[in-house]
Formats: sequence, C-alpha cells, structure tokens
Amino acid sequence: MVQDRFNRTIDYLRISVIDHCNLRCVYCMPLSGVPLTPSADLLRPDEIERVVRAAAALGFRKIRLTGGEPTLRADLADIVRQTSAVPGIREVSMTTNGVLLPRVIDELKAAGLARVNLHIDSLDPERFSRTMRLGTLADAWASVAAVERAGLTPVKINAVVTRGFNDADVVDLAALTLEHDWHVRFIELMPFGVGECAQMARTALVTTAESMTRIEAALGRLEPLEKVTASEESVNYRLPGARGVVGFISPVSEPYCGDCNRMRLTADGRLHLCLLHDDEIDLRQALRSGASQSVLEDLLRQAVEQKPVGHSLSRGISTRQRDMVQIGG
Ligand code: GTP
Ligand code: 5AD
Ligand code: SF4
Repeated sequence: MVQDRFNRTIDYLRISVIDHCNLRCVYCMPLSGVPLTPSADLLRPDEIERVVRAAAALGFRKIRLTGGEPTLRADLADIVRQTSAVPGIREVSMTTNGVLLPRVIDELKAAGLARVNLHIDSLDPERFSRTMRLGTLADAWASVAAVERAGLTPVKINAVVTRGFNDADVVDLAALTLEHDWHVRFIELMPFGVGECAQMARTALVTTAESMTRIEAALGRLEPLEKVTASEESVNYRLPGARGVVGFISPVSEPYCGDCNRMRLTADGRLHLCLLHDDEIDLRQALRSGASQSVLEDLLRQAVEQKPVGHSLSRGISTRQRDMVQIGG
C-alpha cells in the first residue's frame, strides 16, 4: 500500500480515457467544445494496462474509467478487459452519461466491468436538456434500464445541483429511491478552468444543506447511514420506507480531502495529483520512451508523495489548466 505525506492510503485510480464528450453539460463543457487531444496522443489500451500494472504493484485496488465520455472510445472494451485482468485490481467501474451505453453494455460487462455510475441532472425533459444540453431524458432513462438489465448494481445516479437549472429537481430525483434500490447522489458544483463553465459555476452553487432541506420538506427525514469505507466521499441517507440510498457529495461545503484515496490519469497520459490542483506528472513520455515497470512505479510513487492536501474553492481558487471534461471528475 502507498501512503502520501498526510498518511492517506492511495489505492483508487481514476482513468480518463478520452477528453471529448457527446454532451455539453452547462458546468462541464462549453457548447463550442474544448481543444481536443489528437488521438495519437491518447494513451492506448496497452499503455493504460502498463500504468495499471504499476499501480497494482503499489497497492492500487480500484479503477474507475471516466472521460469526457468514456463510451466514445471505440476500444473501451479492450481497456476494460486489459485493466480488469491485472492481478491485484478488485474492481473496474465507469462513470458515464449513458447515452451510448445500451449498445455496448453487454460487451463491457463481458470484458469485466463491475459497475456503472450514471449522470442525470433532472427528471423533467426540458430542464434535463437545458442542463445537459445535447442529451435527452429518454436516452438517460434507457441507460438506467440497460444498467439494471445487465445487473451492474447498485445503480448509482449522480446529479450536479446547479442553481437556476435543476435546484428544485432534487426532490424528484431523491424520490426515485422510494421505489428503486438505487443510489442517487447529489454533487456540489465545483468551478474548473477559466472558461464560461467556471464563470457560471462560481455563482450557481447549491449547498448540500439547501438540497437536504428541500428534500426533507417534501419527502420526510433523511436517516443517516453508516459509512462503508472511510474514503467514500458521499455521505449517505435513507428516506422513510425507501429501498435505495440518497447521498451527498459536498466538496465545497464539507471538503473530504483528508480521506482522499484517489490518483488520476488523464487521457493524454499525465498523472493529475488532485482534482482541484494543476500539479501533474507526465507518464506518456516515459511510456513512449521505453520506461520499465519499475520506472513507472517510481513515477507513481512520486505522484503519491507529491499529492496536495486541501483546496481553495472557498477563496475562489481552482484549477486553471484543465476543464472538468478533461479531468473526468
Ligand atoms: P463510487 O466508487 O461509486 O463511490 O464512485 P465515485 O463517487 O468515486 O465516482 P464518481 O465518478 O461517481 O464521482 C462522483 C463525483 O465526486 C465526481 O464527479 C466529482 O464531482 C466528485 N469527486 C470525486 N473525486 C473527488 C475528489 O478527489 N475531490 C473532489 N473535490 N471531488 C471529487
Ligand atoms: N462540479 C462537480 N461535479 C461535476 N461533474 C462534472 N462537472 C462537475 C462540476 N463542475 C460530475 C458529473 C459526472 C462526473 C464525472 O463529474 O456529475 O458524473
Ligand atoms: Fe459530458 Fe459528463 Fe461533462 Fe456532462 S458532465 S459534459 S456528460 S463529461
């Protein structure tokens, strides 16, 4: 197991496999898009596998594939197959907007995918499309059905709560847990980068406290649940008589950096040391100049040692180099 300077055990690698997305959520990706990494500069499945082997040797156990939108990668099943076969890796899961998921879910499951987190900001078709812009609620709903059918459970649904877009929709989303054994999690909006998304994110935060008050007023008391793992960033509750779980991820109002267990790999092959800092270490250059596994392990160890603690969102300071779509949450 590797620990950083703050005694945090780092065993969860979030791998962004592509920095492009087929949607344009208001807080994540400008409508006009972002400069894309040329495909030759994206890590190939064999390169991702080499990084995962090095990570597993250091004690990493959990892998999450993110994007942009991971299902835009034609070789995604190869990435799942190769990473989930690495000895030591316990779980390979994925965060996706789900639009393309029904077509590929069986192949991904056969390749070893354990779980899927979906992203749905509203159950109202118009507000859904205002927030997730190029997406439709019908597509999102089809993706939930596909995940259930494939049995990649528990079904987790993420919603980023954004003032003026979906702040009131938390009630309907939370109510899904009354009938379904799903985890519906509300995420506080974070600003990333310097563009239009960051601008709006700075003024559209809805705190967890506000969302909880709204949900409790409509649906009854949220009963706290015990944490399953210390590093889980979601604080979970159950509504009266509900089958599923309502969770809140509160990086702004209640930072959980002290329990962080994450390292990130960007689609262009950099270790991104913390979601809310710009510090990175280039692995692609090492991978493409014949670095041995032990060199990769050293670079990963170095990344863990240099991992920052804490962020400065309360002072309006966030990342400058990358938008959220280029980090993958
Ligand atoms: P599970 O394994 O199902 O718990 O997934 P997860 O919550 O680790 O992954 P997911 O991609 O669903 O992440 C949910 C959201 O939590 C991300 O999109 C971010 O908004 C937020 N988040 C994840 N990791 C961090 C982190 O290290 N720092 C901060 N500030 N927020 C994070
Ligand atoms: N703040 C918080 N979460 C965000 N996501 C995207 N942009 C932001 C942001 N600005 C979340 C989405 C998605 C995950 C990968 O990142 O909910 O599920
Ligand atoms: Fe795409 Fe997810 Fe960002 Fe929305 S939040 S633009 S679906 S990467």
